Amino acid sequence: MEQLRIAVIVGSTRQGRVGDGVGRWVAEVAGARPDTEVGLVDLGDYDFPPCYPDQPTAAMRRFVARIGWADGFVVVTPEYNRSFPASLKQAIDYAYDEWHAKPAGFVSYGYRSEGIYAVEQLRTVFTELHVMTMRNGVGVNLLDDDPLDTERRRQAATAMLDQLTWWAAALRDARRERPYVS
Ligand SMILES: Cc1cc2nc3c(=O)[nH]c(=O)nc-3n(C[C@H](O)[C@H](O)[C@H](O)COP(=O)(O)O)c2cc1C
Repeated sequence: MEQLRIAVIVGSTRQGRVGDGVGRWVAEVAGARPDTEVGLVDLGDYDFPPCYPDQPTAAMRRFVARIGWADGFVVVTPEYNRSFPASLKQAIDYAYDEWHAKPAGFVSYGYRSEGIYAVEQLRTVFTELHVMTMRNGVGVNLLDDDPLDTERRRQAATAMLDQLTWWAAALRDARRERPYVS
């Protein structure tokens, strides 16, 4: 079977962030599946411009190419003031067609709310970009003793990835059959 290309997008670029560890964890869980090829897209690796330029920079083009490469996305987001971080919105806005008719699942984290407010706002953004968002996600409460690698979180990740890969395969086939109408 042709593997599905899943981009794990690490949305926080904050100095001292925990997001890179969360991203590596979910990339490892996704990469252990036989049906996926996982690419880590860490926004901390992209030297994006401070202002939206007239012409895309090399970093912007590199990011957009990664979005175009993927059949589906796992978006790893913290919660900042009941939303997702500006670094993630900046990057999302650089691509357009490359998002279309693809699925996204979420791994969110924060205190008690487990980043769910950030996820709900991302669903709105992704509706505009014709991205199908997964019902199930992974929520991480950073105040837990062992926030990441618990059986419950692995099961949550598996449920989300099962849905994501179903949609990624279905939409890849559909895009190949006929161009998406946007
Ligand atoms: C500016 C800012 C605002 C935050 N607001 C929230 C919030 O509204 N809800 C929440 O649960 N955690 C909030 N937090 C806590 C973060 O979720 C936590 O610090 C997390 O580690 C941030 O992700 P990062 O380390 O990958 O950047 C906030 C953190 C920052 C820096």
